[in-house]
Amino acid sequence: MTTTTTRAPVLRGPVDGPFLPAGDLAEAVTDFHRAGAAERRWDVETAVDWTAADANRLTDGQRSAVRFITLIEDHLPGYFAVYTRRFPLTDEVSEQDFAHHRELYHFTVRWAVEEDSHARALFRYQTDSGIARPDDLRRELAAEGRKPFELPHDESVALFAYALVQEKATQIYYQQLRSVVGDPVLAELLNRLSRDEARHFAFMADILERYLRVYGDAVVEPIRDVIASFRMPLADTMRGYWRWALRIADAARYDHTDAYEHLIRIVNRAVDAPSDRVDELTRFVAACRTAAPLPLTTPAAVPPAAASA
Ligand SMILES: [Fe+2]
Ligand SMILES: [Fe+2]
Repeated sequence: MTTTTTRAPVLRGPVDGPFLPAGDLAEAVTDFHRAGAAERRWDVETAVDWTAADANRLTDGQRSAVRFITLIEDHLPGYFAVYTRRFPLTDEVSEQDFAHHRELYHFTVRWAVEEDSHARALFRYQTDSGIARPDDLRRELAAEGRKPFELPHDESVALFAYALVQEKATQIYYQQLRSVVGDPVLAELLNRLSRDEARHFAFMADILERYLRVYGDAVVEPIRDVIASFRMPLADTMRGYWRWALRIADAARYDHTDAYEHLIRIVNRAVDAPSDRVDELTRFVAACRTAAPLPLTTPAAVPPAAASA
């Protein structure tokens, strides 16, 4: 797992359905915008006192973690291109699918603005705290940023399930890193970032629940495929990814399978009377956790996804 070889992904075309009815998707998108209303927004320039940023207060492992998450966040153009390539707003798709994709776009542009601010904020932290010089950092980011990104799935629900796990795993990591870093400016920044990731997760959780309610067993297999092949973004393309991943895990617990219990909760909440296939899915996801599998939760015991926002 410590290999430094990389391989370029094959870029794919429009995803297959089934898609949620455009009206259902629009409800979820509206809830997402409501959760990020003006009073909860922040901007890079005023969110923290940049003059106080001081990397001398960080351990080597924490500095390494900041450099790693900057690389991941800065790849946004590659992630955004997945949505535009795979949910195209062109005559490649039917009018019905276009209507769905147009609603999704109302989410993706807003999400992209927020993710781009994460990249800018981490860049600013690195340069103002003394971790890196701007031109050196730009070069480092460009070397990775120009590599293409793709997800190895062809069904739309799989892309949402992937995003759900990735957003939750990122949120958990930022919270854990925040609790140990020695620089209060970085702690405040990580707090902002983790709250945004929590809202991104809540949107994906809403989408997945709606899929399970509308399509039931028909979407179990694509969700299973996502877990079976899950790798965090850039794991296949970033130079030295696994070495980095081990080093940042020294700074704070970093295990994307921590997000799996949240996926199980969503499945249980969406399905009133689980079929054999749904049961098998939740057992499979639990078994894929690195830690000992948690007892499966019952729907009544599950808090709403928004509770994590
Ligand atoms: Fe982010
Ligand atoms: Fe996010």
